[in-house]
Amino acid sequence: MSGIKLNTKVLVVDDSIPVRTVIKRLLSKIGLTNIVEAENGKIGFEKLTTADPPFDMVLLDNQMPVMDGETFVKKVRENDVLAKVVLYGLKTETDQIKLDQSANLGIDGFISKIFHQRSTTEDNLLRLELELTNCLLDHFRSNRDVWSDGISAGFESPKKIRQYNDFLTNYMPIEPNIIIPGLKIPLSIYTEKDTIVKMILEADAIVPEQEIFYQGDDIKKAGHLFVHLDDREKYKNFLKELSSGKIKGSSEKMDRVRAAVIKENSKMVTKDFMENPRSGETVKEAKNVVSEMIDNILNNPSSFYGLMKINTYDYYTYLHSINVCTLSIGLAVSLGLKKEELDPLAIGALMHDMGKSRIPSSIINKPGRLSEEEFTTIKNHVNWGHELLESHKDLPPESFIPLKQHHEKLSGKGYPNGIEGDQLHLFGRIASIVDIYDALTTERSYKKAFKPFEAVSILLKTPEDFDEDIFNNFVTMLGKQIRDE
Ligand SMILES: [Fe+2]
Ligand SMILES: [Fe+2]
Repeated sequence: MSGIKLNTKVLVVDDSIPVRTVIKRLLSKIGLTNIVEAENGKIGFEKLTTADPPFDMVLLDNQMPVMDGETFVKKVRENDVLAKVVLYGLKTETDQIKLDQSANLGIDGFISKIFHQRSTTEDNLLRLELELTNCLLDHFRSNRDVWSDGISAGFESPKKIRQYNDFLTNYMPIEPNIIIPGLKIPLSIYTEKDTIVKMILEADAIVPEQEIFYQGDDIKKAGHLFVHLDDREKYKNFLKELSSGKIKGSSEKMDRVRAAVIKENSKMVTKDFMENPRSGETVKEAKNVVSEMIDNILNNPSSFYGLMKINTYDYYTYLHSINVCTLSIGLAVSLGLKKEELDPLAIGALMHDMGKSRIPSSIINKPGRLSEEEFTTIKNHVNWGHELLESHKDLPPESFIPLKQHHEKLSGKGYPNGIEGDQLHLFGRIASIVDIYDALTTERSYKKAFKPFEAVSILLKTPEDFDEDIFNNFVTMLGKQIRDE
């Protein structure tokens, strides 16, 4: 199949309005907005043959009143219409092959497994969204103009890469919500663009009343604020002050500030833990943070979605660890796990990538492909992490499972041990899904992040790697979040 371009003109033929709406929404999410709808094959065919400019692609339901999909495609081919036709709504793959081969219709793509029962429940619509994305991703992958997983301009140069690494090592992203107008901030605040850092508020300055941090062009675009790591202790003290009474009032805004302070505290604790994994003190603090997160999610499920993605900044192991921890708790709760089982899973998820502290950031954050040798180094993080933590006798044995198994796959194609099937513990099954998902949806300075539904579609490419039930639960959980946005 050849690729499609962003100005692709698409005709969506389906008798169900909800389905057409989902398809339109999905297409526009990936930049396709030139879309025309038709409620059956007959109307669709009229629109197709009279269009100027012509349509590039037709997304077509099979079962429709007046004229069904199969008849529609026959007419399209008889009339030498060049548009690509992607058909959905057939029950099985055998049906697809039969239809395509016997009638020699030249159908360009099928989307399957959607409407086993013809229904338009939320869950089915989400499935349609995913299937359709899969199909479209295939088109996009074959057209580098539209779908490029390449690297942003400039990131081929060693100087730029050094600059990027310096930036990642020296600065830490912070939540903009804690920068309250009128408050005196004891440390400087920075912003960044293309790895060039700019100070936007000097230490000990009062935050201006007009919320420049939300309106300024740089911030609004990037939404990212940073502190220098030399100011780390000052920042911790500032957070302490904030949580001990400086934030007054009960407005919605203050609730956001409070939530942001909790996030920032857990981030600092996780960062300390990553840097000092052998210290008994940091493990204790990490365990406290984790049980706070669990309580938070159990007592107030809606808070989960607030905690879920701390941000989509560049990759920092401590942020990724918090994300994997939060998502693992959410997924485990949706699978019906009890509080006692959540504790070891959550602390395990938080420390799953601990071994990365031994890998130079120039490898972890390398733009582009890793060499064979670099990849071997990366793979070692699993065993290194275990070595770093095994001396902690107060960590329950199950809490090591997410660490040991998060890169294993049900198919046996994972690492470090290539275990498969039943050898994969529930915690490993959870962590392996959540881990890749978070990595895919994290932005990098040199690379765009995948959207949640794109990330799920990528995982769906190798269904044999993941536990189907857990995966379905995960998709439903994300679906709720996307809908709540
Ligand atoms: Fe990992
Ligand atoms: Fe990870």
